[in-house]
Amino acid sequence: MRSSLNHPPLLRRLTIAGGLAATLAFGTVSAAGGVQAQASSGADLPAGAAVATSAPLKDYDREIVDQFDSANSVGHIRHLAVDIGPRLNGTPQEREGAEYIGGVLESYGFEVTLQSWGPVSTKQVAKVTSPDADLPGGPNWQMYASASGKFTGNAGVEGQVVYAKTGQSAADFPADTAGKVVLMDYSTTASIRNTAVANAVSRGAIAVVLAYATGNSAPPSFTLTTSQPEIPVIGGGSAHHTWIRELLDKGPLTLRIATNQYANPMGTNVIGIRHAVGDPTGTTAPIVMVGAHIDSVLGAPGAHDDASGNGVSLEVARVLSQYPLDKELRIGGFGGEEGGLLGARAYVNTLTAAEKARFVGEWQMDMVGTPYEPARLWALTPNGQSNFVVQEAYDAAARVGFDGLRNCRLGQSDHQAFYDVGIPSSLFIWLDYRPPTPPAVCGPTGGTYVTEPQYHRPTDTMDNISPERLQITLDVVGGAVAHNALNAVTVSAASDAGQPLAGAPVRADCGNGPRDLGTTGADGRLEAVLPHVTCDFTTTVEGRVATERGVSIAGDRAVKMTVDFTKPTISLTTPADGAVFTLGAAATASYRCDDNLSGVASCAGTVPDGGPLDTSAVGFHEFTVKAADNAGNAADRKATYQVVYPWHAYFPETMEGKAGSAVPIKFGLGGDRGAGVIASGYPVSRPVACDTGKPTGPAEPTSGPGNSKLGYEDGQYNYVWKTERDWSKTCRQFELKLDDGSSHFTTITLK
Ligand code: BES
Ligand code: ZN
Repeated sequence: MRSSLNHPPLLRRLTIAGGLAATLAFGTVSAAGGVQAQASSGADLPAGAAVATSAPLKDYDREIVDQFDSANSVGHIRHLAVDIGPRLNGTPQEREGAEYIGGVLESYGFEVTLQSWGPVSTKQVAKVTSPDADLPGGPNWQMYASASGKFTGNAGVEGQVVYAKTGQSAADFPADTAGKVVLMDYSTTASIRNTAVANAVSRGAIAVVLAYATGNSAPPSFTLTTSQPEIPVIGGGSAHHTWIRELLDKGPLTLRIATNQYANPMGTNVIGIRHAVGDPTGTTAPIVMVGAHIDSVLGAPGAHDDASGNGVSLEVARVLSQYPLDKELRIGGFGGEEGGLLGARAYVNTLTAAEKARFVGEWQMDMVGTPYEPARLWALTPNGQSNFVVQEAYDAAARVGFDGLRNCRLGQSDHQAFYDVGIPSSLFIWLDYRPPTPPAVCGPTGGTYVTEPQYHRPTDTMDNISPERLQITLDVVGGAVAHNALNAVTVSAASDAGQPLAGAPVRADCGNGPRDLGTTGADGRLEAVLPHVTCDFTTTVEGRVATERGVSIAGDRAVKMTVDFTKPTISLTTPADGAVFTLGAAATASYRCDDNLSGVASCAGTVPDGGPLDTSAVGFHEFTVKAADNAGNAADRKATYQVVYPWHAYFPETMEGKAGSAVPIKFGLGGDRGAGVIASGYPVSRPVACDTGKPTGPAEPTSGPGNSKLGYEDGQYNYVWKTERDWSKTCRQFELKLDDGSSHFTTITLK
């Protein structure tokens, strides 16, 4: 932690924060959901999220909100309100609060600065503890230390307590008052007070506590007309009165009373900054700020007002610190809020114009979870208008299904200081706020409110904390802060023809498994938030997958996904459809597949491209190429080729003969191919017109027992065709069709 003195007019004294280790020795923060806090460097992802499971990961909004655990907030609130206790502006307890918050933020990797500002008005406080009793609302009570009494310093005085009613008559004082701490009823009448204290002093009291006997009062500030410089004289609230009397009813009670006057002390702010990944010096990145006030009013432990705000801020800081971010995150703990927004005003005065311009907004958490039933969660702005910060909280509420958030008008907390310098801000508060026009319409002047009975009282203790309502605040306000701390990514899905695709489910794998980002709307768009990561985006529409790989998310950006609905194309060169190859000829398959967009995933023919075409068997062969692109579009292309014998005709195209004679048709097939080379049903002959050669009748088979026959001798086939006698004076065409699919002809003119 470093202390800053960067606003000279305001800052007169510099106190170096000491004892950080001691500050950090308090309760450890349990990590929710098994995710351990880790230093945030580079683009590392949360260790806990690195386990790939069958179910896709949630979107980042939900993943983060699911890690918020109000039990951690309660731990911080307890430390501030119980272990430290009341944190009046300008007292060491305000600074202790700042150091605690700073220590926690440092453990989350934040760069922490303690700002001293002031001076502020002199504070007179009594710290009241007990060595033998568990003080309700304790162990650190705070009362008012009258300047008419003694300032003991931290050592204080210790003694048993007696109760002396109004202290106006001898009968009010127990016999053993000497050497005791005397509790008496506080009177608003100065002369009555004066008498009471003088009576106690004359009976040997070592300290006097004047506390309100009835009602619900904070400790009074007062002076005496007759000062009593030998003993501390302090003022307690009505709760102190009640608690002391209840303890006395049970038996002896010892109190230690230490009174101090802090003359024109300095106030303290704590500012934690976590720089954006791409802007380690903090000069350009948008700033997302969460604020709460450290200080409490005199006498109040300030559990709800406003340790609760810091408890929520710190839990938001813990979870977000696990993600590499491109937004600068600032957590502010402001002192002196109760004195008139002093710390927040000092802080905004340190901001340069350029810095202010970087602010996305300030989410002020003040009183963020009382169990007081009539309280509701409000987003209150100085002008009653909604703004970006309010709207983002409404959106976050909608994401978690909380519909209880309302917006109206109020200043009275640190958001006012940000508003006044033009930074969008809002106060988030659980309050019984009453808009002027019920049920909940906020008019231009806003409404009225009723605070919980513990507000600004010694009873603002852990009993005034609701873990359930803190959790709602975490989910809603923390959810809004997280959403804005991440990068805004617009994913659009369109077909390759340029049509927006609605309802497209988008997934992103950012290194730890697929994650559902939701589905595109009617405009084909989806708004997602992502940390500083590199992701593969995928969407599937009608079975077509579009993937954008290695998309680096380093700031707000758009990601366009084009879904390929176009089939791959196939060009088939060899075999061409209808190609004829000689039996056994060497031929090479040649084809290729192309895809316009997603690329070719597979391209496979009957034999591989460049491989030998099968010409080992005569006849017709089908050659197929199947292609698929990476989107899932499939195409195929077929070609039929023919493998034929090496043919040699040893007969002419036309010949003459005598009807009834046997005509030898000799041919070669490049060797002996066996007896089955003629296609079944062949040869045939048909009558043709002698002049034109056109068929004049049906083909008739020539083969058959005792008719024609096929022989093979000396490398030649010989088919003996028996012509018929009654074909005399006609022309006939002879067709020899082979089992390779080829047909061979000769036309004979018969005498
Ligand atoms: N936490 C309160 C804010 C508040 C506002 C509580 C309205 C209840 C209702 C804050 O700490 C506070 O007490 N503010 C002061 C005003 C401030 C400018 C001194 C107040 O409301 O009196
Ligand atoms: Zn307050």
